[in-house]
Amino acid sequence: MKILITGASRGIGLDLLSRFKAEGFAVYGTYSSTLPDEKLQDCFTRVDVGNTDEVQNWVNQNVSEEDDIVLINCAGINYNSLARRAYVDDWMNVIDINLGGTFRAINAVLPFMYKKGFGRIINFSSILGQKGVVGTSAYAASKSALWGMSKAIAVENAKKNITINNINLGYINAGMTLSDVPDKLRESIIQQIPSGKFGELDDVYKTVKYLIDNEYITGSNIDLNGGLY
Ligand SMILES: NC(=O)c1ccc[n+]([C@@H]2O[C@H](COP(=O)([O-])OP(=O)(O)OC[C@H]3O[C@@H](n4cnc5c(N)ncnc54)[C@H](OP(=O)(O)O)[C@@H]3O)[C@@H](O)[C@H]2O)c1
Repeated sequence: MKILITGASRGIGLDLLSRFKAEGFAVYGTYSSTLPDEKLQDCFTRVDVGNTDEVQNWVNQNVSEEDDIVLINCAGINYNSLARRAYVDDWMNVIDINLGGTFRAINAVLPFMYKKGFGRIINFSSILGQKGVVGTSAYAASKSALWGMSKAIAVENAKKNITINNINLGYINAGMTLSDVPDKLRESIIQQIPSGKFGELDDVYKTVKYLIDNEYITGSNIDLNGGLY
């Protein structure tokens, strides 16, 4: 099995790549601006998921029709701004990276998966897609769009043992959401989470494995959020 991970240079993607590599899987990650650790550099290619050719070359160079392929889409960015003050180009860029980048990678792997009759695609969506939070219109739009896109791709490919699902993350104790959040704000976020704690990278890993192992779950979303809605 070959595991392709976009946005694997830090945060959740890096953690998944490191764990799957330690388990002996062939892993292929992308970075865009964060150079990966020297020990892992063999696993990485520099790819901007906003660039269709770069995404297709990365996939074409690493997989063939003989491979069982798993694609995990972790590449993502955020843009915090009130809608009335937002720069439209910055807003659109979030859509192009989070939604467009995910689609570019899916579009590149699907022909291989279709011919092999196997594929697992896992995207990371967010609680912010379902919960209105001030300043997050671009990110929320990019993440909720993954749900509709995945349902359509799921039915197109269901007979080929290709599944596509989203993990809707709440607040994970790694990566973008809590970086730079002061202690006081962290405390107030924790108080809103029914389980009383942030999600851990281990929770993410177990959920990804579960989706890889199940061929009958497709077009669905798993909320990984400690009960926060
Ligand atoms: N952490 C959370 O609590 C949380 C919550 C909800 C949803 N999510 C989602 O989960 C996924 C992973 O999040 P994370 O927290 O691990 O994020 P992160 O730590 O900010 O890492 C983001 C990754 O995306 C890559 N990336 C950004 N722009 C890119 C581009 N144009 N082309 C290719 N790669 C690009 C970055 O690569 P470089 O650094 O090399 O540029 C980095 O590897 C994201 O989709 C995020 O929206 C996370």
